[in-house]
Amino acid sequence: MNMPNMLEAKKRTKNNIPVIRNEYIIPNSMKNIGLNKTYYVLTYGCQMNEHDSETIKAILSDMGYKENNIMEKSDIIILNTCAIRENAHNKVFGMLGRLKHLKQDRPNIIIGVAGCMPQEKIVMDEILNKKKYIDIVFGTHNIHRLPLILEEYFNNKKTEIEVFSKEGEVIEGIPYNRDSKIKAWVNIMYGCDKFCTYCIVPYTRGKQRSRLKEDIIKEIKDLKDRGYKEITLLGQNVNAYGKDLYDSYNLANLLEDVSKTDIDRVRFITSHPWDFTDKMIDVIKTSENIMPYVHLPIQSGSNKILKLMGRRYTKENYLELFNKLKSKIDNVSITTDIIVGFPGETEEDFLETVEIVDKCKFDGAFTFIYSPREGTPASKMEDNISTKEKRERLQRLNKMVNKYSLENNKKYINKKAKVLVEGFSKKEGMLMGYTDTMKLINFKGNKDLIGKIVKVLVMDAKSFSLDGICEKI
Ligand code: SAH
Ligand code: SF4
Ligand code: F3S
Repeated sequence: MNMPNMLEAKKRTKNNIPVIRNEYIIPNSMKNIGLNKTYYVLTYGCQMNEHDSETIKAILSDMGYKENNIMEKSDIIILNTCAIRENAHNKVFGMLGRLKHLKQDRPNIIIGVAGCMPQEKIVMDEILNKKKYIDIVFGTHNIHRLPLILEEYFNNKKTEIEVFSKEGEVIEGIPYNRDSKIKAWVNIMYGCDKFCTYCIVPYTRGKQRSRLKEDIIKEIKDLKDRGYKEITLLGQNVNAYGKDLYDSYNLANLLEDVSKTDIDRVRFITSHPWDFTDKMIDVIKTSENIMPYVHLPIQSGSNKILKLMGRRYTKENYLELFNKLKSKIDNVSITTDIIVGFPGETEEDFLETVEIVDKCKFDGAFTFIYSPREGTPASKMEDNISTKEKRERLQRLNKMVNKYSLENNKKYINKKAKVLVEGFSKKEGMLMGYTDTMKLINFKGNKDLIGKIVKVLVMDAKSFSLDGICEKI
């Protein structure tokens, strides 16, 4: 049994980060263990967590399991969890309550908990004390060891826990069952060293570790050869790519090299404002296949709060960067993340956030109520704002954010947008896809268009989507 340790998780050394190949192995005894059996994987977290689920699915497939669409009927159920806010936790614990009953009815099913929550000691204490029906637990550093973890479980028939708290390695050669045949995630780095005071990610994901550029480019070329149209480069701070690995090769250089693969569309998330260079902006501006879309979390418009958050920029720095992006990159769309109710946030501080949202008129924003995470510096700050106040601030903010999203979306009406058609829309008889600027669009068109990049005439706009018609019917 390996348990998490938050003190270990926060250590950062100057040691080189090993790149490990050939460590994903399936022991002979496990190669056909899943024949005639099925799996169900639930994903709770960010894009990286989604991408990890694609690995979990691929590993289970490699052992013979098939995907099942009905959780209750499957033989192995894995919850790939997120620790970012209290409500993510609560959702997982709610689901575990349901699974307890399922396990009583079907004692042979295997219940697994994976992802960021097992990296937290409080979660593991709760699992050990109260959730004995959970069979396997693993964290973010050892997904590739799932066959070995399952083997231990089958041998010992008792809960198998393997969670490492360490800086981590770069593991190459792991498989993916990608959810889409049109667009794909590509990790360019793991972990985070920014240690924003409210955030659990540096503890759950370890040190910032960039993948070698050759491995990234090879993966993208391979995806292109297999017909993929769009890739999204993934990292907690993609703008810091390479800092831990190269002297002078950074995200700007990587974007140039990725652009040269000629894959149709390139996206990247998430950009921390701190590391955004002019060279990166130039590369985005001049490369046809790098999409004019930047997710640039601001978190707060008050310099006092930004400092308490440890974000290392001021609202003035942010605005300068924002304006540069807007003026240099044609038609760029910019979205953001905002936290309200951080400890010490006064009404005046909140109004500064309101003011900056009024200035930036973001294309979209993910807004959150601050949620204290055990072990982070902010969790020790006095949380002196009532829940009622926090909710009110969130509501006020959301109203503005939605207003500006709608205003921005309305500018598309009667214009043609370039759309990668991903599939059928939830709206009957319609197709769906995203514009180059990352706007969801539902439109009338022939199903043969799925997988193609087409021009769609925008007819109507809402806060969260556009409606249109594709002339090529
Ligand atoms: N690496 C990205 C963000 C990853 S987490 C970045 O730095 O931009 C996604 C978002 O969740 C954050 O941008 C932040 O707005 C929010 N978040 C993180 N920790 C939080 C917490 N403790 N409470 C509320 N929101 C939080
Ligand atoms: Fe969390 Fe900050 Fe790292 Fe983003 S940059 S993952 S908010 S610590
Ligand atoms: Fe959640 Fe872990 Fe992502 S905490 S946001 S799943 S990195």
